[in-house]
Amino acid sequence: MTSASTSAIASTRPGTRRFPATFRWGSATSAYQIEGAVAADGRGESIWDRFCATPGAIADGSSGAEACDHYRRWADDIALMRDLGLQAYRFSIAWPRIVPDGVGAINQRGLDFYERLVDGLLAAGIEPAPTLYHWDLPQALQDRGGWTVRATAEAFADYASVVLERLGDRVPRWMTLNEPFVSANHGYVTGEHAPGIRDERAGLAAAHHLLVGHGLALGRIRDLAPTAQAGIVLNFTPVVPASDEPADVAAAELVDGVENRWYVEPLAGLGYPADTRERLGWDGGEILDGDLELIAGRIDALGVNFYSRSVASADREATDERAVPRTSMGWEIHPPSLGGLLRRLHEHYGFSRYVITENGAAMPDEERSDDGRVADHDRIRYVAAHLAEVHDAIGEGIPVEGYFVWSLLDNFEWAHGYGPRFGLVEVEPGSLRRVPKASAEWYREVCHTGVVADPL
Ligand code: FCB
Repeated sequence: MTSASTSAIASTRPGTRRFPATFRWGSATSAYQIEGAVAADGRGESIWDRFCATPGAIADGSSGAEACDHYRRWADDIALMRDLGLQAYRFSIAWPRIVPDGVGAINQRGLDFYERLVDGLLAAGIEPAPTLYHWDLPQALQDRGGWTVRATAEAFADYASVVLERLGDRVPRWMTLNEPFVSANHGYVTGEHAPGIRDERAGLAAAHHLLVGHGLALGRIRDLAPTAQAGIVLNFTPVVPASDEPADVAAAELVDGVENRWYVEPLAGLGYPADTRERLGWDGGEILDGDLELIAGRIDALGVNFYSRSVASADREATDERAVPRTSMGWEIHPPSLGGLLRRLHEHYGFSRYVITENGAAMPDEERSDDGRVADHDRIRYVAAHLAEVHDAIGEGIPVEGYFVWSLLDNFEWAHGYGPRFGLVEVEPGSLRRVPKASAEWYREVCHTGVVADPL
């Protein structure tokens, strides 16, 4: 899919915006998407290794086996981040490197890797912002039911303790899970992601056990790193109905319930949304006494991943044909939805802090400047327009404390393989050489000044 012109976005919001001095500027990645080295130093198999080996599962037949080779190039990558002026770096820790079979024996060499990374970041003046789970479940646990069984949530908490015991003294902020909706829905309902299961009931069980895992891991963070902040990262896709017809409005409510409210409401202490629960016909059989209190344990910050909005229609076969600006993923570019989302979150749920843990765009990256670098002015416009929304939200008193661009590097985009490029930095196919794009130069300026001016 080609991207429509995005130049209209920024020009509708003229101005120069200065962010608070305490605002944290960062960039995000995840383990399986960049590390490679899947057989190094005792790492166990993950569900993504297995899934990528399934014919037809990944668009280009690729995998994260090599990815960006970050596992070996981590020191160069930290130097790159320092050069960009990043203040914080969001990455994930690969559970199969730490506890290769999911439970039981601990692999010290896996912990050593993340210790080197964390210490290297700290030495470079960059805050390490780890996420404990970004989708790469140990395959051994999948073989015993994966997230459909409660034992996986308990294993997750034990793995979290192992990580916290090694790194809890120097990491100031932890995130438990990345996007439990995508883990549960794409992994267990649509089968588009590992482990590739298609079973709605399994998806509901997985969603609950993911949230239980979050609650248990949060407790371990509180015990082992009492002064650290802790939170969870959710993805949000605001939904609008295709028309005012009651059937379309009801369809939008259902999608919103399944994708957005299903996670944020139990975390906010409201339980699972009753309307959605009824429409899904879930008996809540997996909910044990005390679970909802556990899930609602106080978080210090909600991580917000935002990319796009969606349009819901009662006609399930209908495709969204609107002529709107889109990224290379086909996702609509609609920055006001981010501002609207932040307002809605704060008004309805009132979390104490928000961090934009992912926002960014896959773009065609076809234009190059004279020095051969990718001239991705469309990506700059995308980021600037979303930052304008964040700035407005802060101005209204919504405590948004940081922004992490997805992504630092072009990387393995899950079922899409290496086709979509989200990086501020190009990773040359073959050599894996890192070459900053125009957006990286632009973002460097933002990190240094805290000012977002309208891009040209
Ligand atoms: C998010 C994922 C991240 C990346 C971006 C494009 O859903 O958390 O790993 O794939 O989408």
